[in-house]
Amino acid sequence: MNTTKASHGQWSSRFGFILAATGSAVGLGNIWKFPYMTGVSGGSAFVLTYLLCITLIGVPILIMEWLIGRRAQQNPIQAMEFVARQEGRSPAWKVLGFVGILGAFLILSFYSVIGGWALDYLFLTGSGTFQGMTGKETGAVFEGFLANAGSLMLWHTVFMGLTVWIVAMGVTTGLERASRIMMPGLALVLLILVGYAAVATDSFGRAAAFLFTPDWSAINGQVVLAALGHAFFTLSLGMGIMTAYGAYLGKEVNLLSTARTVVILDTTIALMAGMAIFPLVFAHNLEPSSGPGLIFVTLPIAFGNMTGGTVLGALFFVLLSFAALTSSMSLLEPVVALVEERTSLGRKSAAVTAGVVIWLLGVASLLSFNHWSEIQILGNNIFDFLDKLTSKFMLPLTGLGIIIFAGWFMNQEKIRQELGLEGTAYLIWSLVSRFVAPLAVIAVFISMLLG
Ligand code: PFF
Repeated sequence: MNTTKASHGQWSSRFGFILAATGSAVGLGNIWKFPYMTGVSGGSAFVLTYLLCITLIGVPILIMEWLIGRRAQQNPIQAMEFVARQEGRSPAWKVLGFVGILGAFLILSFYSVIGGWALDYLFLTGSGTFQGMTGKETGAVFEGFLANAGSLMLWHTVFMGLTVWIVAMGVTTGLERASRIMMPGLALVLLILVGYAAVATDSFGRAAAFLFTPDWSAINGQVVLAALGHAFFTLSLGMGIMTAYGAYLGKEVNLLSTARTVVILDTTIALMAGMAIFPLVFAHNLEPSSGPGLIFVTLPIAFGNMTGGTVLGALFFVLLSFAALTSSMSLLEPVVALVEERTSLGRKSAAVTAGVVIWLLGVASLLSFNHWSEIQILGNNIFDFLDKLTSKFMLPLTGLGIIIFAGWFMNQEKIRQELGLEGTAYLIWSLVSRFVAPLAVIAVFISMLLG
């Protein structure tokens, strides 16, 4: 346990931990994925369901992943096995750890492709490419960019290379410390962009209405499944990552208040991204449902037309790439740990080997934006297939396994003590973690199967 080590200076262990967990949670999911999913899934119906999923399902699972990790002080697979044995249950529960790592492996393959887009846009924006451009023009730049497989491959390689380097060298701690400056920086630039959207367009109110006016009639099974999947994705749940982070937590840390902080930070960043992007979408008559390219088409309009936009734009993409790296390293870490443990490879070779395999799969994803766009798996191109397989199925199913294990196969009194809950608070916790969260996930799956 590194609590004592980390608690000198201004580094309380809780603060360091919050940084690491937030570093994993805040990433492309918040700024790239959240706005485009909102656009594709019809706006507020998605946003409100997502907020509900985060609160009622995401938070309890986040807390339980930490609690299991903290108890076991081991990697996610062994942690599940350890706690299962401790509770007198079958060690087979460790299968959740395996599925989680497989999920991390698949997600990183396409995550790195988008991380590469952010890196390339750092240079495009910084060199003034978007100066004075309209939405049509930035859209054309993006389309040209997607058609160029060589350039996508280059940036995917750079991003994956950086991730492998960070994990192989074990410089994750340094990176997390740097995020102490980078994360507030990202929030600040987003705030400036929200301000720009409010002042320079007349569509701020329309965007706010699009995101927040309740329209329950627009909610259907697909929207709920998308929102549920995104709640897992954005909080890095269902992959054992938070379990692994929990292993570094001291007993004195209050899991509930820590979860509240991480979730508020993560959600605020996503909502700010939405409020920066949608006013531009409406003001420039762009299609909200245009998909994964949404931020790469909209934000350059702002950077190309505001004073100091070139510098601010480059800064934004530096910070975004940084946020993406603190997430991607958390995705690679458990895969490397597993390879290291199961083979005779050392840490560096394990990181490189895992990196190359994941990179290859990523190449298949990036080709689905151009040469392989015709290749379909169950009606989706390779990129969409991997995204849906992980976010809509693997993460929620693993999360469901964890919450069922926690609520029904672990000693509840012990959990109550570890969370420091009494009276009504404990009653609410019990209701949510044992009934609401698992039943909600099951209901979403059943409605999917029927619908
Ligand atoms: N939560 C990260 C994001 O929103 O960008 C992505 C991610 C990282 C997903 C780690 C899953 C994970 F385990």
